[in-house]
Amino acid sequence: MIDIFKKVKENRGPIGQYQKQGHGYFAFPKLEGEIKPRMIFNGKEVLTWSLNNYLGLANHPEVRKADAEGAAKYGMAYPMGARMMSGQTVLHEELERRLAKHVEKPDAFLLNYGYQGMVSIIDAMLDRNDVVVYDSESHACILDGLRLHIGKRFVFPHNNMENLRKQLERATKLVKDTSGGIMVITEGVFGMAGDLGNLKEIVALKKEFNFRLLVDDAHGFGTMGKTGAGVGEHYGVNNEIDLYFSTFAKSMAGIGAFVAAEPEIVDYLRYNMRSQTFAKSLPMPMVVGALKRLDLLQNEPSLRENLWNVVEALQSGLRERGFNIGCTESPVTPVYMDGGVVEATSLIMDLRENHNIFCSVVIYPVIPKGQILLRLIPTAAHTLDDVKETLKAFEACREKLVKGEYKSDIFPVIPKGL
Ligand SMILES: Cc1ncc(COP(=O)(O)O)c(C=O)c1O
Repeated sequence: MIDIFKKVKENRGPIGQYQKQGHGYFAFPKLEGEIKPRMIFNGKEVLTWSLNNYLGLANHPEVRKADAEGAAKYGMAYPMGARMMSGQTVLHEELERRLAKHVEKPDAFLLNYGYQGMVSIIDAMLDRNDVVVYDSESHACILDGLRLHIGKRFVFPHNNMENLRKQLERATKLVKDTSGGIMVITEGVFGMAGDLGNLKEIVALKKEFNFRLLVDDAHGFGTMGKTGAGVGEHYGVNNEIDLYFSTFAKSMAGIGAFVAAEPEIVDYLRYNMRSQTFAKSLPMPMVVGALKRLDLLQNEPSLRENLWNVVEALQSGLRERGFNIGCTESPVTPVYMDGGVVEATSLIMDLRENHNIFCSVVIYPVIPKGQILLRLIPTAAHTLDDVKETLKAFEACREKLVKGEYKSDIFPVIPKGL
């Protein structure tokens, strides 16, 4: 028998093992000041490319005003209780109606966090007889939802349609015995690599197989499609997405999420999602603020135009300079380089300390060993000058990486805050 506290004191987890060296710098960094491209990190102004504030709404004057008015009028507590018990309001219902309409669905249900919402949708929709077929690069909220699923689950390699077909054949055979159904789960935009879920090809498989499709469009809502209705709109397949899910954590620059579908399904979710039945309703300032954000997302196309101008400049600038940015088709901009943990941390420190550029870095075990992924999130609030400055810094850092200047057997000394 072991003491559980002893176990976790000894095994700190894949990222936690670096806590001593990296806390406050690589993990849990404090970005201070108003949410905009230039923020304060470690007491210095940095050009920030790590916030999913795609449309620049976080600090939009009308949004700030709506948030403040919502808080002044209702306080942070209202409404008290879960939606089903005592937390229902006219504005929650209005927001649901407007979100549903925007993504071309008849109804929607608000969720008080995307992560727990997705876990709970999967839990509510499926029983032991049903089979899930899902993309191997699905977000943690999908994978954790699947942990609750006691029926079978089949994974297909990321966007591999041939393999998806095989999994659907297996699943179809299996549900003949169980009398269950099949749910395919994928994403609109994959948040690390920026590539899109193959929604067109997936919905085409509905002609041959009987399944329902759930799409997590966290990074697509607001950024993709003519009106910002997401990757379904981008591909013209919104009607074939049976359950459309997105969060307010990205383009909407807030907290909360929603799921949209046909009314009977949304009503079923209203009455059966444990994460909503047993948790407090979204606070009113978030609902008032979300209505304002949705107004701007729908009525200010210039926000999406600005975003895409910055995206084009950044992505074409990187490609022209020979950087590997994979096959992104969305604003998410990965830059892949070769190197280990020491090189990744040295490079990031150089970027932050000497070039005043702040972006996120991802290393093994999230991506294969020997690879560094720098992830840039352009927003409508960035300028083309920000892009130029960043491209210059990236070129300088790549040169050092290639020359081996970031190779060192001592972990870089963290300048401040530790
Ligand atoms: C693809 C995806 N799904 C779900 C979530 C979770 O959403 P939330 O932050 O609202 O819990 C995120 C991250 O925010 C995400 O990137």
